[in-house]
Amino acid sequence: MKCEAVILAAGLGTRMKSSLPKVLHSLGGKPLIAWSYQTCLRATGSSPNIIIGPEAGAVRDMVCDAHFIVQEDRLGTGHAVMQAASELKGKADLILVVNADLPLFRVESLQGLIEVQKKNPGPVSLLTAHSEIKRGFGRIIRDEDKRIVGIVEQAHATPRQLDIRELNVGGYCFNADWLWEQLPALPLSPKGEYYLTDLISMAASARLEIGSASVLTLDEMIGINNRQHLAEAETALRARINVEWMEKGISMQDPATVYIDPAVIIGMDTVILPNTHIMGKTTIGEACILGPNSIIRDSRIGHHCEVRLSVIEEAVLEDHVDIGPFSHLRKGAHLCEGVHMGNFGEVKNSTLKSQAKMGHFSYIGDTVVGAGANIGAGTVTCNYDGANKHKTIIGDGAFIGSGTMLVAPVEIGERATTGAGAVVTHNVPPEALVAGVPARELRKKKDREHNA
Ligand code: UD1
Ligand code: CA
Repeated sequence: MKCEAVILAAGLGTRMKSSLPKVLHSLGGKPLIAWSYQTCLRATGSSPNIIIGPEAGAVRDMVCDAHFIVQEDRLGTGHAVMQAASELKGKADLILVVNADLPLFRVESLQGLIEVQKKNPGPVSLLTAHSEIKRGFGRIIRDEDKRIVGIVEQAHATPRQLDIRELNVGGYCFNADWLWEQLPALPLSPKGEYYLTDLISMAASARLEIGSASVLTLDEMIGINNRQHLAEAETALRARINVEWMEKGISMQDPATVYIDPAVIIGMDTVILPNTHIMGKTTIGEACILGPNSIIRDSRIGHHCEVRLSVIEEAVLEDHVDIGPFSHLRKGAHLCEGVHMGNFGEVKNSTLKSQAKMGHFSYIGDTVVGAGANIGAGTVTCNYDGANKHKTIIGDGAFIGSGTMLVAPVEIGERATTGAGAVVTHNVPPEALVAGVPARELRKKKDREHNA
């Protein structure tokens, strides 16, 4: 049985108090509409149809793979579905309809709904949930035999109906032929709209069977009507993502303060400490300790790394790297295996080769630091002359004394040493010792060792 999805996204979302269409507000780093789009795509296996308002060009740009249908006048949810009739007639056996302002629907819940309708001899099944939090939801009316006979909107409900705990979530699966035939018969509501929900009482009056399926988890019912709801959805989404990671073997001391974006990947036995944000397309290896108070964005972190109170952006850490507290890796920082970077360091567009050490308040930019080199406290690569950026190369095993200024472009040879406070303006040969301002070669390191 072929099933096509229709996502209702033409509403104005006036309660958001925003110049942005409601469905373009961001949740978990993606616009709301992208969530419904992905879930419907996975539930039906084909690209969903999205009903949008006439001025929603920006929505088209966000999900360019979808098929868009414009609802010129916003005359209600039933009227919105009617706009898809001419294009979808004859194309599918089942029509899945979901409200776009319910971004947390689970694929499994929508699939469950479709399965119920496949077995239903009647024309429609809908998603319901039992909840004490009833804000704005239509109430499900059942008869003495527990058969669904209608949906009453909150605005039109009697005080007794308002007490009903079974709610209309906002997901429906229709027999396509019946849907297209009945839509034109929808009555105008007291509010002057065509309610999709009135199809339920129409089916019941014709003594046709109405199926129902439950959502798997109550967080799926967080509908976005204002910014408070958006924040609730953000919290629920985060809790959902964190639970999934804990089930896969990640520890969190305080999940309520851990923020992991949907595209992140994390290896087993990694521990995430409070106030840690892992964002964008970040990959984390196994057995790392991250946080507390760290931000990691669009970066790749190997196994057994430690990141304490630090900010890492567009950087790579190989295995067994430790960093922080209070350090900053910027775009293009690459810390090879076993690198130690302590506090108040900044690295940009530079590679620190394996086992290099940089313990205290240094800036390394546009530089290659050799394997096992030691960067003394307060070392600065002076990479910018006011017009251009220049490169610094530090050889394997070099020892850069505390407070050294490396005026780029400059190259420090393997196992060379700079004295404390040296201002290095010329290349230093391998093994040499330089000191002073500007730095001069004192002795070959070899001679020094020989004389000692
Ligand atoms: C609707 C249901 C209610 C249900 C609730 C759950 C109706 C009449 N009521 O109420 O029973 O409990 O959803 O979420 O359907 N839209 C259009 N065109 C329009 C009007 C709305 O595309 O002309 C879209 C909106 O963008 C939104 C969705 O339809 O995504 C639902 O509309 P909304 O106004 O939010 O309906 P609710 O009052 O929440
Ligand atoms: Ca709504």
